[in-house]
Amino acid sequence: MIGAIRSILLRGFELIERPFDRLFGPALNPVAQLGALGFFFFWIVAVSGIYLFIFFDTGIERAYESVEHLTHAYWFHAGVMRSLHRYASDLMVVMAVVHLLREFANDHYRGTRWFSWLTGVPIIWLLYTSGITGYWLVWDKLAYYVALTTSELLDYLPIFGEPIARNFISTGTLTSRFFTLMVFMHVAVPLFLLFIMWVHILRISRPRMNPPRMLAALTLIALTGVSVWKPALSQGHVDLAKAPVEIGLDWFYLPLYPLTALSGKGAVWAFLAAFSVMIGLMPWLPPLRRAKPAAVDLAHCNGCARCADDCPYEAIRMVRRSDGLPFPAEAQVNPALCVSCGICVGACPSSTPFRRSRELKTGIDLPDYPLAELRARTVAAAQALAGPARILVFACEHGGAAAWPGGVPLPCAAMAPPSLIDYVLSKKLADGVVVAGCAERACFNRLGIAWTQQRFAQQRDPYLRSRVPRDRVACVWTSILEFTRFKQEIDRFAVTIAAHAPIAGTSSPLPPAALAEPGTATPQKSGLVADRSGQP
Ligand code: HEM
Ligand code: SF4
Ligand code: SF4
Repeated sequence: MIGAIRSILLRGFELIERPFDRLFGPALNPVAQLGALGFFFFWIVAVSGIYLFIFFDTGIERAYESVEHLTHAYWFHAGVMRSLHRYASDLMVVMAVVHLLREFANDHYRGTRWFSWLTGVPIIWLLYTSGITGYWLVWDKLAYYVALTTSELLDYLPIFGEPIARNFISTGTLTSRFFTLMVFMHVAVPLFLLFIMWVHILRISRPRMNPPRMLAALTLIALTGVSVWKPALSQGHVDLAKAPVEIGLDWFYLPLYPLTALSGKGAVWAFLAAFSVMIGLMPWLPPLRRAKPAAVDLAHCNGCARCADDCPYEAIRMVRRSDGLPFPAEAQVNPALCVSCGICVGACPSSTPFRRSRELKTGIDLPDYPLAELRARTVAAAQALAGPARILVFACEHGGAAAWPGGVPLPCAAMAPPSLIDYVLSKKLADGVVVAGCAERACFNRLGIAWTQQRFAQQRDPYLRSRVPRDRVACVWTSILEFTRFKQEIDRFAVTIAAHAPIAGTSSPLPPAALAEPGTATPQKSGLVADRSGQP
């Protein structure tokens, strides 16, 4: 059931993301930058909020007038800031909801990712609390409605001795103390929100907290344009003698408020509690599986720290050497954080298939899919190739090549050390090699595509040696739903490879499997996909 919902959502996201990819390119695709955009909107809200505080009168008697004054008398700076403050806050809600759905659709909420997922729940609560207290401060008709409904909702909970709605929100007894409390909360809650946003990304390495400059600039220009075109306005001074009617709601922050009158306060709280518990428990819903975490073999580790540098989940620490070998440090894996993506295996200088030792060993390896098995599968898959262009595909199990018949499965494209490609071509096992991963904007293991590209471009160790003919190596980045596009890319590559002088190699006695239609040959799947997403 959950799988079906995820797959529908994933298709929906694909439909939106592909045109954006064509328009902006994968690096600028805003749908792939939602977390970073969330931070960006937060900073816009923070800066505009500080600016507004210069003009805002925090006393309840003058609050409304001060907001009106800054909106109209200084519309060209403070008024624009007010609109930026409101619209960026609304966009934070949009971003948080779409980001949540996208992480869910991409199966990014289980295993070690439970931490980012779970800390997302308080983020939603704090975001809403910040927005609701903000609407209160304007002290217009909408503010009165918000104050009244919030107080009624709070009164439903057995927290306060006396009903606050009656005490504070009625003519005569209204004190400015409660208003001052809201002003304080509107500053304190966003600060706490920022703290939780920071905690949210603590467990991932190199989190993208800033959108690319171009995207940030375009977003800011668009937001400013909308702010000038449709400025945020108040809705008339509060009249405590009259119940607020006919007010315009902010549907981003207040969608549940009308429900309070329609279905009752209990129903609203029940919905909020059920939503939070359901979201909070999702990482631990079945099926619960887990591949074994990466293991360090000290006899082959020289303490170079490449694995720690490349791990996208902060699962490796360099610690003081414990085995007496003359190196200052050794790698240590935290099994609780490891998702068994194999990126560290691809990073280790010992991971070279050329090694002549009896048993192929490396400094860090995946117990369920060791480098020795990867080499054996590579050789077997190469032997099964035939035809004028023997193309060997290293297929990430989360990308468009996952179902490619005869492909060598990988939990992440970056598990394949560059020396493995060198090995295939220099041993003449194939005429061309394709490394296939997820869509470029959405690497399942966050950094696998970036590391592969940098290693091949010789910008990151271990790099693809210069002797490897670049025209015989291709990277294809396609999403799991783009098998047809993957096949087109392979066909195109096959044409260029066939045009080359063939690498004189062993011609295979086996039938050509590599260029067959999907389903016509049995894919050499390892069945690792589910296991390697790192579910507990
Ligand atoms: C204002 C709200 C939020 C902000 C600013 C935010 C920001 C971020 C950022 C910057 C990242 C790192 C992205 C990367 O570099 O790969 C991230 C990751 C993540 N976020 Fe959020 N987030 C927010 C809300 C949420 C919510 C509500 C949820 C879900 C309940 C959520 C779930 C996740 C998960 C699961 C990841 C980990 C992705 C991974 O490991 O690849 N976030 N978030
Ligand atoms: S397998 Fe992946 S998550 Fe585990 S230590 Fe290696 S790089 Fe990190
Ligand atoms: S990359 Fe290999 S050699 Fe370097 S620290 Fe990690 S396990 Fe040791």
